[in-house]
Amino acid sequence: MSLSRHINAEEVIQKSRDHPNAKHRLGDQHDRQSLHQSWSRDEDAQNLPKYSIPQTGIPSRSAYQLLHDETALDGNPLLNLASFVHTWMPEEATKLILENINKNQVDLDEYPAATNIHNRCISMLAELWRAPSAEKVIGTSTAGSSEAIMLGGLAMKKRWQEARKAAGKDYYRPNIVFGSNAQVALEKFARRASNNYVMDPKDAIPFIDENTIGVIVILGSTYTGHFENVQELSDLLDQLQKDTGLDIPIHVDGASGAFIAPFAYPSLKWSFDVPRVVSINTSGHKFGLVYAGLGWVLWRDESYLHKDLVFELHYLGSVEYSFTLNFSKPAAPIIAQMFNFLNLGLEGYTRIARKDLRNARLLSRALENTYFKVLSNIHRPIDGKEPEDVDNPESYEFGLPVVAFKLSDDFVAQNPKVKQVWIQNLLRSKGWIVPNYNGPQGAENDEILRVVVRETLSADLIEKLIVDILQITESLIDGGAEMLTATKASRHQPDREHGRPDKDNFGGEGESAGQAGFSRQC
Ligand SMILES: Cc1ncc(COP(=O)(O)O)c(C=O)c1O
Repeated sequence: MSLSRHINAEEVIQKSRDHPNAKHRLGDQHDRQSLHQSWSRDEDAQNLPKYSIPQTGIPSRSAYQLLHDETALDGNPLLNLASFVHTWMPEEATKLILENINKNQVDLDEYPAATNIHNRCISMLAELWRAPSAEKVIGTSTAGSSEAIMLGGLAMKKRWQEARKAAGKDYYRPNIVFGSNAQVALEKFARRASNNYVMDPKDAIPFIDENTIGVIVILGSTYTGHFENVQELSDLLDQLQKDTGLDIPIHVDGASGAFIAPFAYPSLKWSFDVPRVVSINTSGHKFGLVYAGLGWVLWRDESYLHKDLVFELHYLGSVEYSFTLNFSKPAAPIIAQMFNFLNLGLEGYTRIARKDLRNARLLSRALENTYFKVLSNIHRPIDGKEPEDVDNPESYEFGLPVVAFKLSDDFVAQNPKVKQVWIQNLLRSKGWIVPNYNGPQGAENDEILRVVVRETLSADLIEKLIVDILQITESLIDGGAEMLTATKASRHQPDREHGRPDKDNFGGEGESAGQAGFSRQC
């Protein structure tokens, strides 16, 4: 057990300081000015309180240096394979972002160019997602997919309520159906679930009744990257409508998949070309290849966005509309999204999606041929035979460039003392961030290691990752398991505990109630 669990580290630090009257404590202004900035920051910071705003501030260069140094403790975003969120853009994009960093997108009148770029992004996405030209697509940017899904859900709920009111029926018990692999954003919106790694459309149907506002289909499970089948669900809902008269809309959560499917799997029907799909969300900051802070939601037609969700903004001489949960938001990520559309084009996005999937296949096979069972299947040929066109993602099972894996049954039988989580911990010590987490509800006892293969995870890095995973795993076979008793969870981290929800008030219960099915990974 780690020592720091029993002692208060902050108290120890406090007691270990020199006596407060010690001469060197604060140099005079002249001394400090003669020091190089990185040396004076300690003195500037000496009296800074940690958990309250200081009465008097410190020079901007010291504030910068302090935070610059502190954030160096963060993991390296390039090696953060836990996250779907994009971590690199070309220099010109960064320049554009900095040039526009002080613009608030909601000030539509003041920033007409940013507004125009925003609206052009919506049109481009509408076309990418095969919106029928006869319908008038409407959409907005959001902070991410979480906000976007909530908007999609709210719009379905308002529409359902209106129809119930018009029919003279009660409208107080709406429900929504989605798979238990749903990301936490969906859980925040509602609770109702089915089983296993993805929702089988057939399993969803029995959950639907007259209070169902819609079904959310996930194009790219957070757990394993699997796509749920939009077309099959739509066909089943058509049949349900014939049998019962219930007309159930679909919202597609394409947080990751809506920027992969159009490029890697052009034959797949999942978007507005399926008439039952009324809305789609995505994260510009995942495979849209923009830095964190951007999502999109589009409705196939204005009629699906209820008027209660639209706010009129009155300006001198014009009226504009906003329909997000959050009001103010930065314009820069939207401009960065347009940068990618112009810079990459359809061809560039296609090349990147194919490259990510190629690298994911390499990793999957290397793992499967050694000590692991691979749960994702983008490396499995679609008809079980070696494909003719080996580089075409459509030759394999469809999904995100995600590799979900666990120790094989053989390995576990031969090495019963080895805990899979140690692979995560040992990879971390080499810089790689690869999470080990529990499966969704119904498979919560399965521990899964997961690598998201993003644009920055080059073939060269994949090779290094494979070598590291194999070396680490073999070191565990050779008796290394005995040494590994300290786990991350046993460390007391006062800084991290400040401002966080107390586990006794918020945590634990959900897990024991079998709610491990809601991913905390994103
Ligand atoms: C399927 C799915 N939906 C929603 C989200 C939430 O996305 P965001 O982080 O953009 O809010 C994620 C995050 O990974 C996801 O994988």
